[in-house]
Amino acid sequence: MSNVTIIVGSQWGDEGKGKITDVFAASADYVVRFQGGNNAGHTLVVNNEIYKLHLIPSGVLYPRAISIIGNGVVVDPNVLLEEIGTLKERGIEPNLRISERAHVIMPYHIALDEALGNHQGSLSAGSTKRGIAPVCADKAYRHGIRMLDLLEPALFREKLEKAYTFNASIIRRVFGYEYTQEVNDIYNMYLRFGQKLAPYICDTELVLHRAMKAKKNILFEGAQGMSLDPDHGMYPHTTSTNNVAGYAAVGSGVALPGGARVIGLVKAYMSRVGVSPFPSEILGNEAQILRDKGGEYGTTTGRPRRVGWTDLVQIRQSVRTSGLTDIALTKLDVLGGMDEIQLCVAYDIDGERYDEMPASLTKMRAAKPMYQSFRGWGPLNKKEYAYCISHGYAALPASMRTFIEYIEKAVDCRVSIVSVGPGREETLMREIAQK
Ligand code: GDP
Ligand code: IMO
Ligand code: MG
Repeated sequence: MSNVTIIVGSQWGDEGKGKITDVFAASADYVVRFQGGNNAGHTLVVNNEIYKLHLIPSGVLYPRAISIIGNGVVVDPNVLLEEIGTLKERGIEPNLRISERAHVIMPYHIALDEALGNHQGSLSAGSTKRGIAPVCADKAYRHGIRMLDLLEPALFREKLEKAYTFNASIIRRVFGYEYTQEVNDIYNMYLRFGQKLAPYICDTELVLHRAMKAKKNILFEGAQGMSLDPDHGMYPHTTSTNNVAGYAAVGSGVALPGGARVIGLVKAYMSRVGVSPFPSEILGNEAQILRDKGGEYGTTTGRPRRVGWTDLVQIRQSVRTSGLTDIALTKLDVLGGMDEIQLCVAYDIDGERYDEMPASLTKMRAAKPMYQSFRGWGPLNKKEYAYCISHGYAALPASMRTFIEYIEKAVDCRVSIVSVGPGREETLMREIAQK
């Protein structure tokens, strides 16, 4: 068994990565975020207590596990300090390390994100407005601010002058927005953030290299999901950091060994916050019922999530681009009580069948879902699910097993984790032979 496990989203995010990371973190020495920023919202439910995390890895509830925010994460220090503070108030002292190389979200990034979304209109992704695209652009422009800069005042000032002028000019002159924040105020505020975060900032790449050499258990926690990956997702309706499993190496600075376990999170139905084609979307009253039953309201923004049937074309793309070894199928309980459940197995685009996701946005806009129908199950109550978990996979309703096994076959990846509730204990680990 490999000492490395990578957890990634296989849809449009919010599949339950936080929950499954928390479950696996029980045996982890390190839990590593390697991309994304506080656009992510990961919810954990432990002993009926709810924890909502945006930047700190979902292993933080285990004192043994070291939480790492890798170089590939974009960090809003204000949000991170708040998150640390909230955890401390709840009696949890984060055992945290932050990469010196992680890029920092600045106030002008957040202001620019707002202007950018309005400008991009129908081609925008409906961003969380946390400054993600602008901070990534600054990294590519090579005038980004990194965590370490906050500890080196002279260099920070030198870099900030350039980045501030660049961004404030775009906000004011290109988009015609008012932007009043002074460079001096930002400088002083961010130096203070730096002082507070200094105990956590270090060379996390080296920490992980040593951990890897010592064969420690390392768990990588992805944010977002395949369809939001800027290379492999539904560009341009994506986020700006890659989330496929290969990026775990780039975003943490450690080479990954062969044989790592790669778990793709798949929700039994699907949700989408923001703008893009959504071939298997459910609309109207039926959508509202599912949204409410599944609690599909954004952890980060509170926005109602669009909902639809799970799309196997997307899952196939995730299996391929992340090299999934396993699927964790979540929220099966939410579908309980429905007479009929659908899976989108392919797209019909202008009369032609597509089993793989086309790169063309024109084609995605025209994609119609081709469905396979399944008989529903339950509803089962918590006690009944607990019985299934203790008695194993075969105890699950036959119609649920048919649904699960169809997915496995259709995307060529085993479903080895089945989640039937938000709690840690509501997880069935399926014993199946390795391929
Ligand atoms: P993430 O972004 O992938 O970590 O997912 P979110 O935390 O944003 O959204 C998933 C939501 O579903 C959270 O509120 C979880 O507590 C909840 N959840 C996770 N797995 C299950 C499950 O199997 N059943 C139910 N009913 N809720 C779940
Ligand atoms: P977790 O980790 C769901 C979406 C936004 C928008 C697009 C770009 O909780 O699964 P951005 O703010 O990154 O510029 O927004 O990506 N998005 C998410 N949707 N879950 C997330 O994270 C998301 N992170 C970004 O809604 O469509
Ligand atoms: Mg989420």
